[in-house]
Amino acid sequence: MPSTLLTGISELWTLDPALDEAGIAAADGQVLRDAAVVLDGERVAWTGPAEQAPDADEREDLGGRAVLPGWVDSHSHLVFDGDRSAEFEARMAGESYAAGGIQVTTDATRAAGAERLEALVRERVAAAVAGGTTCLETKTGYGLTVEDEAASARVAGALVRAGMLDEVTFLGAHLVPAEFDGRDRRPGAEEYVALVTGPMLDAVREAMRESAGHELRWIDVFCEEGAFTPEQSERVLRAGRDAGLGLRVHGNQLGESGGVALAVALGAASVDHVNHLSAEDVERLAAADTVATVLPACDLSTRAPLAPARELVDAGATVAIASNCNPGTSYTSSMSFCVTTAVLQMRLSLAEAIRAATRGGARALRRDDVGHLAVGARADLHVLDTPHAIDLAYRPGMPLTHQVWRRGARTA
Ligand code: NIG
Repeated sequence: MPSTLLTGISELWTLDPALDEAGIAAADGQVLRDAAVVLDGERVAWTGPAEQAPDADEREDLGGRAVLPGWVDSHSHLVFDGDRSAEFEARMAGESYAAGGIQVTTDATRAAGAERLEALVRERVAAAVAGGTTCLETKTGYGLTVEDEAASARVAGALVRAGMLDEVTFLGAHLVPAEFDGRDRRPGAEEYVALVTGPMLDAVREAMRESAGHELRWIDVFCEEGAFTPEQSERVLRAGRDAGLGLRVHGNQLGESGGVALAVALGAASVDHVNHLSAEDVERLAAADTVATVLPACDLSTRAPLAPARELVDAGATVAIASNCNPGTSYTSSMSFCVTTAVLQMRLSLAEAIRAATRGGARALRRDDVGHLAVGARADLHVLDTPHAIDLAYRPGMPLTHQVWRRGARTA
């Protein structure tokens, strides 16, 4: 791969971790003006003032545009089929969101063949990348049988192997499916948890090994009224941990579910949603290594109280912003929209929101190769069609993605 020199950069948001260590804040040092960057293969090889730029095999003048690290979307549910637009419409007419809607998508996903599912996920990944997302996690969780969860993992794993997806999470504990409703001698939630923590976990790990060519990395659980109790959630997470997986939790979305306390107690990498937090929850997150991942588009789409991102940042918690793209609560993969909302509605500064959607997401995925543009980082760049990144909030909804570079190659 030839090296490439990009010049004509009005603002280069390196978000270099070394600058944090030196105590230099984003506002006064992490943004280089009139800058250049050199990409060598899949990596960033050099950043600095344009007049000091070294030569490279190829050159491109970006015409005075702002450059950010690509968005790191640490929470999405892209493996699904089916339509929930009527549910959304009913919600806009006053219904409230409940976990049970997951079953509708589960029925449709079970009925879709692997080929169709893969084509749907490919389209969704392409849409996310076109909006500036360059590192993307996705979950299983709409199969909910051993075979269907393994099939979802196989689809996601194949896209990891193809370099389209970066991380896969097993979410068999998304909902207790209808056939485990405990009525008429049918098995109940306890039997379902036993299935998730035993044969389903094994099958999903095997599917990932075969399709992605490496081990599954993450397990997640929806710890919420109508889904899994904290006690059931703990069993799911412990089984994942025993299998060597990192932990993620859907917590405190619909109420004070105990998900945050559980995530922190078990050392989860991230607890996501966090709409309903007690003062103790905020303190727990501030003191822990567990990232608090807020999902602004989901909060709008469910008309939920916004996650208290401002309070979390002020308390010292590490905050990530993710899209939560899924058909029930957040049918968008636009991280730019999420960043806009975090600034306009959650009261984060632009620098805080950009950091949460890049470095925060990377921290939630326990990665240090993405989410910044320091030398050695993965060459994932989001070139904005404006000289000022503040336009993400100032000009909401405008098409501000000019180019996207992923692993050193131009993708959009
Ligand atoms: O993260 N909250 C649980 N899971 C998804 C929604 C799933 C659905 O309703 O289909 C979420 O919001």
